[in-house]
Amino acid sequence: MIPDEIIEQVRDSADLVRVIGEVVSLKRTGADWRGPCPFHGGTHRNFAVIPRKGRYYCFVCKEAGDIFSWHMKRAGLSYPDAVREVARSLGIVIPENTQRQGPDPREPLFSAVAVAHDWFVRQFRDAPEAAEARKYVVGRGFELDTIEPLEFGFAPRGSGFQPAMAQLGLDDAALLESGLLARREDGSVVPRFRGRLLLPIHDLRGRVVGFGGRLLGPGEPKYLNSPETPIFKKGQTLYNLHAARNSIRKEGAVIVVEGYFDVLRLALAGCEHVVAPLGTALTSDQAELLRRITTQAILLLDSDMAGLKATFRAGDELLRHELRVRVATLPPGEDPDTLVQRGGLAALESVLADAIDLLERKIQILDRKGWFSGIEHRREALDRLLPTIRAAKDPIQRELYLSLVAERSGVDKKVLEAEVASRPEPAPRPVAPRSEEWVDAEPRPARGDGSKAERILLHLMEVSGEWRARARQVVLEDWFEAEDYRRLFGLLREIAGEGPAQVPEGLDLRLGSLWARLLSERDLVAPDRHDQNFVAACDQLAARPIERELLYMDAGIKRAIDPAERRDLYNRMGALREELRREHPSATAAYGAHRMRRRARRS
Ligand code: CTP
Ligand code: MN
Repeated sequence: MIPDEIIEQVRDSADLVRVIGEVVSLKRTGADWRGPCPFHGGTHRNFAVIPRKGRYYCFVCKEAGDIFSWHMKRAGLSYPDAVREVARSLGIVIPENTQRQGPDPREPLFSAVAVAHDWFVRQFRDAPEAAEARKYVVGRGFELDTIEPLEFGFAPRGSGFQPAMAQLGLDDAALLESGLLARREDGSVVPRFRGRLLLPIHDLRGRVVGFGGRLLGPGEPKYLNSPETPIFKKGQTLYNLHAARNSIRKEGAVIVVEGYFDVLRLALAGCEHVVAPLGTALTSDQAELLRRITTQAILLLDSDMAGLKATFRAGDELLRHELRVRVATLPPGEDPDTLVQRGGLAALESVLADAIDLLERKIQILDRKGWFSGIEHRREALDRLLPTIRAAKDPIQRELYLSLVAERSGVDKKVLEAEVASRPEPAPRPVAPRSEEWVDAEPRPARGDGSKAERILLHLMEVSGEWRARARQVVLEDWFEAEDYRRLFGLLREIAGEGPAQVPEGLDLRLGSLWARLLSERDLVAPDRHDQNFVAACDQLAARPIERELLYMDAGIKRAIDPAERRDLYNRMGALREELRREHPSATAAYGAHRMRRRARRS
């Protein structure tokens, strides 16, 4: 017999759309997926897969079922074999024979945490020392009766924990491994949690696997959480998901908030489809957990700088997992907890009703800073939007995003598309520290090394006043892509006089050594060809944006399916190439080489 909870776990983990999608060509319609029915061999899209309910249904032949009946009917399996088959494909181990195999090796940890939790809860309810914890909770506007089912605990300051655990039959080893005891450097063992309110953290099956421990007053750290243990993996756990799961399915969406109390406040107010990551940025695994049960997420994080960064980071992660993402904006200074405490469910509902799509929110913020009004910022604005377009794995979503950004930025959609396709999505970043930059990040990579053309210009400007004068007239600061080189150019441009440039006073070490290195690079320019070298370098740098665009277009042509689209790109490339030849005759950088290869192929 397979235990019910394992069957439940297998059912919840299975990806019905993916499994059925292997044999039926499914298309998304709203929250569901439709395709021709494989049971009666239909040709119209009358067969629905409803991931929210974990079921399929044919409107014509009325065939219906879940992941298990799918395997039973398609492969002629018995029910237990179907469960085993699905479990196997998910890597879930079913104990074949409980007597012979013995219990889960992690069982002692689950029970250690359960026993300790039980004790912490009793402390919270009854212990005189826990009065301050009860007062704290009431002070935050909760009624003790109401929160009883939440099973808050209290970890006392004193030394009561270990003897109590010993009396309940728990040894230090299990408590150390489950993170409830910590070993000091001198080898002694102390309770991890002291003088804290403990909020239990559950796994998907509802077992307590760790705690979030909040200080009752000011101090640091405000929250101390259980460490990673064999039963508690922070990056793979979402706070409250075990309780919110059904409600998320029912609502067809999940609300993601930042903190424990945000979750608790909303859930107690009746908004139950809410979860939070555990003190870090939302991970890919957490996004995957959500994708299995829903198609839509609403991000409800602080609207300050840090909150926005977290929002966009989490949003991209969810897009990568094909969820639709909206962003709800809280009034300044509020978090979901304070919002609901002050304004009740009504305040929350109005904030949620105003939620807008992730990319639109990004555009809105950039727009308010005027990033679409000036040409100099527009490129940077695009650089901030492109990662989100890239993150959108769902083809329709991506298409919508491309159109939206093309419209807002005035950049041709095909160029954007080529740009999106030309660079692979960056590898997922590891769990991010809470302070990662987004909004004030410097968009240009501060590379240490400029291109050869950049170095030629700077070298000549160092060598003599004549070149500085000419550079002042024709060279643009924007041509220098490496930050250090751009700064050096700005400095050199200001230096008057005929001869070699004098090193400005107070030049920092980094620029100073760059300056010296450039000055010594005499073989950058041929002795009798300074003029040609200068002109060629200018040409190359000025041509660089055009060349880039040509490369994007070239990529676009390779991807184009529609012949008319390909022809159009060819024509526009031709015109651009003409412009390049006319305006920058001696440009020989990347695109020049590219053009040579093409010519070689043709002949
Ligand atoms: N967090 C954490 N460790 C910290 C600080 C925060 O794990 N040292 C996590 C907690 O899950 C916390 C969330 O990040 O709930 C948000 O932190 P913060 O905004 O600082 O706290 P609030 O949730 O507002 O906490 P409270 O309302 O209890 O003050
Ligand atoms: Mn708070």
